[in-house]
Amino acid sequence: MNKVKIGILGLGNVGTGVWKILNTNKEEIRKRSGYDIEVGKILVRDVNKDRGIDVPKELLTENPEDVLKDDSIKIVVEIMGGVDPAKDYILEAIRNKKHVVTANKMLLATEGDELFTAAENEGVAFYYEASVAGGIPIIHAINESLTANKIEQIIGIINGTTNYILTKMTFDNMTFEAALKEAQEKGFAEADPTSDVEGYDAMYKLAILSSLSFGTRINIEDIYREGITKIKPIDIKYAKDFGYIIKLIAIVKEVSGKLEMRVHPAMIPERHPLASVNDSFNAIFIRGNAVGDMMLYGRGAGDLPTGSAVVSDIISILRGSTDVEAISAVRNNYLNIKPSPMENTESEYYVRISVMDLPGVLGEISTIFGEEGVSILSVMQKGKREEFASVVYFTHTTLEGNIDKAIEKIKASGHVKCIDNIIRIENIQ
Ligand code: NAP
Ligand code: HSE
Repeated sequence: MNKVKIGILGLGNVGTGVWKILNTNKEEIRKRSGYDIEVGKILVRDVNKDRGIDVPKELLTENPEDVLKDDSIKIVVEIMGGVDPAKDYILEAIRNKKHVVTANKMLLATEGDELFTAAENEGVAFYYEASVAGGIPIIHAINESLTANKIEQIIGIINGTTNYILTKMTFDNMTFEAALKEAQEKGFAEADPTSDVEGYDAMYKLAILSSLSFGTRINIEDIYREGITKIKPIDIKYAKDFGYIIKLIAIVKEVSGKLEMRVHPAMIPERHPLASVNDSFNAIFIRGNAVGDMMLYGRGAGDLPTGSAVVSDIISILRGSTDVEAISAVRNNYLNIKPSPMENTESEYYVRISVMDLPGVLGEISTIFGEEGVSILSVMQKGKREEFASVVYFTHTTLEGNIDKAIEKIKASGHVKCIDNIIRIENIQ
C-alpha cells in the first residue's frame, strides 16, 4: 500500500474531527484513496493543552516549519483559522509544492485570488469544501455537478451558530446569550463568535458561493450584511403570529445584469422548507436554468461534519484529481458582474416602532410611509395607557431605498421614541 504523510495546522474543533475520522475510518479511507495516510506533524499554539483526544504528544509542535519545511509532508491541511498567519503558512506550503486543504472561509473570501493563483502557478491542488456549510458538499456541487447550468439564484442558511441560536430562541424560549454559549460548547462558533452573530461568517461564505456560481470576483464590501443581535423574543413572536420563522439568510441573485448579495435576518414563511432547517443544520437552495430548483441540507458546523469535508478533500487529492479545483477556481473569475446597490433591493418589511401613545400618531407615521411609496399591509398597536406604545407595521413589497427614506422621516418625528427593529420578509416560494 502507498503511504502519504500529511501535516495539519490546527487541532481545535475541526482538527479534532479530522483526527477522529482519519483514525475511525482508516480502512475505508485506505481503500478509497489507495493510500495509508500518516499524520506527520500537527501545529498548535500550546502543545501542553488538554485536548480530550488521544493524539501522541510527539506529533504536536509549536513550530510551523516542522510542517511547512518537512519535504516528506505532501499535503498541508489548514484548520487554524484567521488570515494571519494562516495565509503566509499556506503560501509557504504552496511554494514548497505541497497540496493544500483549508476550511478557512474568511481567508478565501478576502485573499482567495492570491492563494488560487499561487496554487495554479506551482501546479498544486487547493481544496476548500469545508469552507462553506460544513459537511454539505456545496463547493463540489457548484464546481463540478452543476457546471452545465447558469445559476440564477442561491438562498441559504449557511451559518450553524446563528441558526442554532434562533432555533433555541424560537422553540425553547432560550435567551440569546444562553443559546450562544451552547453553540460555543458544541464547537459550532468561530474563535470570535462576533463573526457568526454579526453575519461576517455568512458573508464570507456567500462571497465564495457567489464567485463560484456567477464566475466573478467578489469584493466582500459589496455584500450587504446584518447579524442577529437585534432580534428580540417579541420579534420572533410577531413573526410566528403572522406565519413566519426568523432565519439568518444569505442571498445572491442576478437582477438586471447586476448581482444582489445580502446576508441578514429575514422572516420566511413557516411552510417553506428553509423554515424547518433547525439547530446547526444548514440548507442551500439553488436555482439553475437547466436543473431547476434544488436544496442541499446537512450539518453546517461541528467537528465531524466539517472533518468529513476536510478528509474528503484529502482523499480527492490522493485520487489524483489534483489540479481540477485549483484551476477551475481561478478560471471561475471570467466575468466582471457589478454589484447591485442595496437600495434597489425589493422586499416586504416588518417595522417595530416605539411611539408616543397620542391621537393622530399612527396616522402621521402611515402618511410618511405613503409619501415614500411604502404601502402598508397591516398595523398593530400593543400597550395601553402607557407613555409609549409599540406599533408594528407589515408592508407590501417595496424598494429598500423607499423604506430607508421613510424611516429617516419617521425617526425625525417628535412623536417617535425609537425604531426598535426592521426585518425583511422574504416570501420565498
Ligand atoms: P479552533 O477550535 O479555534 O481551533 C484552532 C486551532 O488552531 C487550535 O488548535 C489552535 O491551537 C490552532 N491555532 C490557531 N492559531 C494558531 C497559531 N497562530 N499558531 C499555531 N496554532 C494556531 O477553530 P475551529 O473551530 O477548529 O476552526 C478552524 C477553521 O475551520 C476556521 O477557519 C473556521 O472558520 C473553519 N471552520 C470551522 C467550523 C466549525 O464548525 N468549527 C466549520 C467549518 C469551517 P491551540 O489549540 O493550541 O490553541
Ligand atoms: N462558525 C461557523 C458556523 C462554522 O457556525 O456556521 C461553520 O462554518
